[in-house]
Amino acid sequence: MAKRVLVSGGAGYIGSHVTVELINAGYDVVVADNMSNCDMTCFEGVKKITGREDIPFCQIDCCDYASVDRLFSDYKIDAVIHFAAFKAVGESVAEPIMYYRNNLVSFLNILEAAKTHGGCNVLFSSSATVYGEAENLPVTEQTPRLPATSPYGNTKQMCEDILRDVVFATKDYDGAAQGPVKGIALRYFNPIGAHPSALIGELPRGVPNNLVPFITQTAIGKRECLSIFGNDYPTEDGTCLRDYIDIVDLAKAHVVAVSRMMDGKMKEGYEIFNIGTGRPVSVAELVNAFEKVNNLKLNYKFAPRRPGDVVAIWADTRLANEELGWKAERSVEETLAAAWAWEKRLAGK
Ligand code: UD1
Repeated sequence: MAKRVLVSGGAGYIGSHVTVELINAGYDVVVADNMSNCDMTCFEGVKKITGREDIPFCQIDCCDYASVDRLFSDYKIDAVIHFAAFKAVGESVAEPIMYYRNNLVSFLNILEAAKTHGGCNVLFSSSATVYGEAENLPVTEQTPRLPATSPYGNTKQMCEDILRDVVFATKDYDGAAQGPVKGIALRYFNPIGAHPSALIGELPRGVPNNLVPFITQTAIGKRECLSIFGNDYPTEDGTCLRDYIDIVDLAKAHVVAVSRMMDGKMKEGYEIFNIGTGRPVSVAELVNAFEKVNNLKLNYKFAPRRPGDVVAIWADTRLANEELGWKAERSVEETLAAAWAWEKRLAGK
């Protein structure tokens, strides 16, 4: 029988791409989502891409322990990939209680259920935000984390620590009632793009905060002009450097990480991997690449720096390359073409 993976937040941007790759790899999946930040577009897209109409979907809020517990009773769950969290940096500064409650309680509930139902493998979606403005680049998994600059970033650090502590505390559990929790945290750099089918992609609520959805919405005419935040940074062209990772490449990293856990190949009960390309790309370079590959002109202007932005961050990906046998494959051009195809499809063009 195929192993089953629970994808919490599986109807969202990253969750839907991961669900596709899990199914392609032969796993059974159960998707849980409270639909607070998405509609059924991506879940319907997942069904179309995989040709699977029968993917179980549970509309539950992971902040409700009884619902999570029921899910673990209804399905034999071999691993959980936890995406169910709020992710807007600015909103988290304005609404810290909402962010801490949602992001921490939902993860605690997942962990409690994982341990109570005989143990489980838990993959947590962390972020390069934990490194802050790192002194030495690229960052390795050993690069010290810096104090978070937003409640969102803080929830990522706290959830990493909670997972580590639960792994440690449960390592000797072997009873029927309580079992060990094993954990992997994947620290994503900047996920961008869409599935090549253009059936799933990013669906930002309101005005996008992130660069690529803002670019595609400007190109389609939904936004007037892209502001490039800062061109006086100490980089070659004055704009910030990031490590943009294709969403399908990123999704595949989840499949190898979750297989590593389920196949008993972990070297330690709790492991961390950077998931990026290892290539720094500036905001201006990304904008130019988008224009070139899609053969269009983008309306943009230079604007003041955005508070809270780091100058530069990119990944040392050697650990993921060597231990997971995973490597980012798609070029930034392919990724930007996919992002544009998705935006056009949304606009019915
Ligand atoms: C942010 C979060 C990160 C999160 C990621 C994906 C922080 C500090 N950053 O990363 O944790 O994982 O989003 O959701 O917590 N830019 C513009 N114009 C725009 C939008 C962005 O110039 O309209 C620039 C930014 O200044 C930045 C780059 O584009 O230099 C990337 O920005 P963005 O896509 O928002 O991602 P990050 O801030 O790197």
